[in-house]
Amino acid sequence: FVPPIKNKGSGGVVAKDALGTPIKKETYLQTHQPGSRDLVQGLNGEPTYLVVNDSGELEGYALNAVCTHLGCVVPWNAAQNKFICPCHGSQYDRTGKVVRGPAPLSLALAHTDVNEDGFVEVKPWKESDFRTGEKPWWK
Ligand code: FES
Repeated sequence: FVPPIKNKGSGGVVAKDALGTPIKKETYLQTHQPGSRDLVQGLNGEPTYLVVNDSGELEGYALNAVCTHLGCVVPWNAAQNKFICPCHGSQYDRTGKVVRGPAPLSLALAHTDVNEDGFVEVKPWKESDFRTGEKPWWK
């Protein structure tokens, strides 16, 4: 039984793991190392990376894992410190900024937050892209 989770009209969703279980920040940080980028279900159920920063805190942004070229899910390559798309070789740096095509755009951003019950929420990112200073293309 999973109790209903409050979600106060932010347009956000509680992040879920691969089994559909809502993610608690505390538990997540106990099982994910500093620097990790791991997939959860984010907005619209899309594959989304939660980012643990080098201090072991959850970053305030998450990354949509869908490649901006033709939509493959892009794996994180910790050894190379990049996201590398298996389909046509596009590369994104650790913040999801595109550094090699054919992908035309960086990975879409979302905000992360923690609700009053301790669950991680993913919310739409409507501000400019902190990596490029440009308006978000995904809005
Ligand atoms: Fe990722 Fe083509 S879909 S490089």
